[in-house]
Amino acid sequence: MSINQLVFETIKIDSSFHNSNLPTLVLPINSIEWQDCIHEIRQLVDQQLHCTGGLLFRGFSVNGVEDFNEFARSFDLELLNYNYASTPRTEVTNGVYTSSEYPAHQVIPLHNEQAYTLNWPLKIWFHCVTASEQGGETPIADSRKVYQKISPVVRERFKQHGLLYVRNYGNGLDLPWQKAFGTDDKAQVEKFCHKNQIQFIWKDDGELQTKQICQAVAVHPKTNETIWFNQAHLFHVSNLDENIRETLISIVGIDNLPRNVYYGDGSPIENEALDHVREVLDECRVSFPWQQGDIMMLDNMLTAHGRCSFSGDRKVIVAMAEPHS
Ligand SMILES: [Fe+2]
Repeated sequence: MSINQLVFETIKIDSSFHNSNLPTLVLPINSIEWQDCIHEIRQLVDQQLHCTGGLLFRGFSVNGVEDFNEFARSFDLELLNYNYASTPRTEVTNGVYTSSEYPAHQVIPLHNEQAYTLNWPLKIWFHCVTASEQGGETPIADSRKVYQKISPVVRERFKQHGLLYVRNYGNGLDLPWQKAFGTDDKAQVEKFCHKNQIQFIWKDDGELQTKQICQAVAVHPKTNETIWFNQAHLFHVSNLDENIRETLISIVGIDNLPRNVYYGDGSPIENEALDHVREVLDECRVSFPWQQGDIMMLDNMLTAHGRCSFSGDRKVIVAMAEPHS
């Protein structure tokens, strides 16, 4: 049944919000509060999240950290820790984090959460506590469409080789390993790396380097659809501003860049291939302004997300669930 034919008693779908239904806008009927319609919300999620890829709940009186925590937990899924982190975040309550704490002027490109590793959450929620005065949207994109639009040559090359992610922590250039792994204990880091097929070396200055070979594309466990699922365009050196890139390489050398990515056999990825990926992501991008109280729930494999630059206060918090390898 098409999403526009679904009928509920307590919630309704506004199909005029976006023509592709990504995200699907869900509104309460008669200003009902979310606790009183969670049964139908869950029904809708079960039936539709793996089709549309993303739902936007608006007007449900979800306000702040604890309310959001309760909402996310009402799907009977355990909220996940943000382990093997890529960006700085703070846990605001058990399983709920600030969204990436990057400076307001920076844009975070579209990505699927933790697609740079071998385990990732299938579900991710965002809650807008404070909408910024200007900008600050969380754009999204259908990763199935991205896969289909990427040229077969690039797609095949990525698929065939997979990707080798190289990270150098700390040294004031990237997250310290203690923060990325959430521990001060080197033995814990090593245990995590062994368990997750991450190669590691401790360098002479006590800093850490990790390498991991991962997928470039993935198959969705429920729909069997093939999706573009990697963060090569974020990790690759071409993601840095040209001046910063040159300076950084001259200071630390290409092997010690905070992050970089190669094809799985160690050969370099062509800048043109990543330019093409970025163009496709741009073409697939859907963006809308946040309203205070909004909750967006995404299937993290089917739908990528990013962040626009902003001015003024902005607070968007995140929770993740349903680990998948
Ligand atoms: Fe993210």
